[in-house]
Amino acid sequence: MARGAFGSSDAEIDLLVRGKRCGIAVVGFGYIGTVIGAVLADRGWPVTGIDVRQSVVDELNLGKTSVAEPGLSELVANSVRTGRLRATTDFGVIAENDFVIVNVGTPLGPDYEPIVDDIKAAAAAVGEHLQAGHVVILKSTVPPDTTETLVRPILEAASGLRAGVDFGLAFCPERLAEGQAIHELTSIPVVVGAVDERSARACATLWRHALGVDSVVVDDPRTAEMVKLADNLWVDLNVAMANELAKLCDQLDMDALQVIDAANTMPKGTHNVNILRPSMGVGGYCLTKDPWFVNHLGESVGLELSIPRTSRTVNDTMPTYTYGLLTQLLADQGKAIQDSKIAVLGIAFKNNTGDCRLTPTKYVCALLEESGCQLSVHDPWVPDDEAVTVTSVPLSPDIESAVKDADALVVLAGHREFHQTPLTRLADLTAAGCVFLDGRNSFDPAAVRAAGFVYKGIGR
Ligand SMILES: NC(=O)c1ccc[n+]([C@@H]2O[C@H](COP(=O)([O-])OP(=O)(O)OC[C@H]3O[C@@H](n4cnc5c(N)ncnc54)[C@H](O)[C@@H]3O)[C@@H](O)[C@H]2O)c1
Repeated sequence: MARGAFGSSDAEIDLLVRGKRCGIAVVGFGYIGTVIGAVLADRGWPVTGIDVRQSVVDELNLGKTSVAEPGLSELVANSVRTGRLRATTDFGVIAENDFVIVNVGTPLGPDYEPIVDDIKAAAAAVGEHLQAGHVVILKSTVPPDTTETLVRPILEAASGLRAGVDFGLAFCPERLAEGQAIHELTSIPVVVGAVDERSARACATLWRHALGVDSVVVDDPRTAEMVKLADNLWVDLNVAMANELAKLCDQLDMDALQVIDAANTMPKGTHNVNILRPSMGVGGYCLTKDPWFVNHLGESVGLELSIPRTSRTVNDTMPTYTYGLLTQLLADQGKAIQDSKIAVLGIAFKNNTGDCRLTPTKYVCALLEESGCQLSVHDPWVPDDEAVTVTSVPLSPDIESAVKDADALVVLAGHREFHQTPLTRLADLTAAGCVFLDGRNSFDPAAVRAAGFVYKGIGR
């Protein structure tokens, strides 16, 4: 039986998707799965989330999510209420869905190798319920050849069906950034690498109608798998370059942001130079691991690559560098860190998110805790049970109590809330000669100095 998205004519697939008659199963309802599932449901498609964690399923069915992404809670609540979004641990629902989107995690192992155990388990469970006409789309970040040589054989063995003949199979990397995920999901083109042309067309039809975005169809899944790694290697390396420029500018007493902004006006190739911003560190699930995937891939073919190691090493130095800047700034004020009160503002790895996964702020907090200083920490985005993964200091409930009598304010996440309290009010609350170390370069140095602080940014 050729039900659904694979094997029908283009016009039939178009009608099926456009008419919102195709069911979409989203396997792995973590960060990415929840964003994709909630957006597709909000735009009118019936979505079933499948996750092995019962707690995630129960929470979702109550119309809630603990994924901290702006706008996501509302989408989840509305879509569950209207019945377009539900979740289950039962893979049997795969049978009722035309598209199966897999977003399980792919963490790093102890030797920086990718762990694909969840991919294998998810593929086996999906395969058991796969039917002719289904299209399986893998979105987890994986090393090249994973779709063809790992996922495909598992799906085929478990289902008795053939990819590219009975069911569709493609790899479409997820390239959205946390904090603006909902907007990016519906604006960034999707890269499609499929095992055959019909699978590619079915995916492109889904993304065109369901997300309103174009597809960039590449030759095969392995090319699409490499695209994702190339994107993240570029970002990590670019930030590493900005961070080394910042260290240099700190020594030479220059403003790295002025240098970068002016440098970025030079046309090169089809675009301008685009150096990203220096900061106190790089965190999150992707940039901290994907360059290691590339490094591991190089090793697997006998290549000793320099760039992934370099970008990771440089970016991993930034928390210690930031702590060093702080001790120097305090010393310049005649203060020793162990005798100082330090207020950390923001512990999420990214501005305006509550995500603390692999956050570099953890290393700054650890150094501060070891220093013997009196430490307060405030982050309006991070729940208490997440904050304990970063610091043993309980979160202060508000910015004013956190900064009271502080000798130094250390901004580790540039959340918008920190800009809502007037700088003069913060200066009134803090000790005389208070140091303001902006680890995210998110404040205007002149305004901070005008309020009476001793300002320092990363590279400025
Ligand atoms: N977080 C990001 O910003 C981002 C961006 C782009 C790509 N990615 C990639 O997307 C993938 C998912 O990332 P994430 O941040 O959503 O991870 P996550 O850890 O938040 O979510 C993974 C989910 O999969 C579930 N799961 C594990 N094994 C399962 C199985 N066998 N069957 C069903 N569910 C299972 C887990 O319970 C969890 O809820 C990763 O490969 C990641 O590299 C992440």
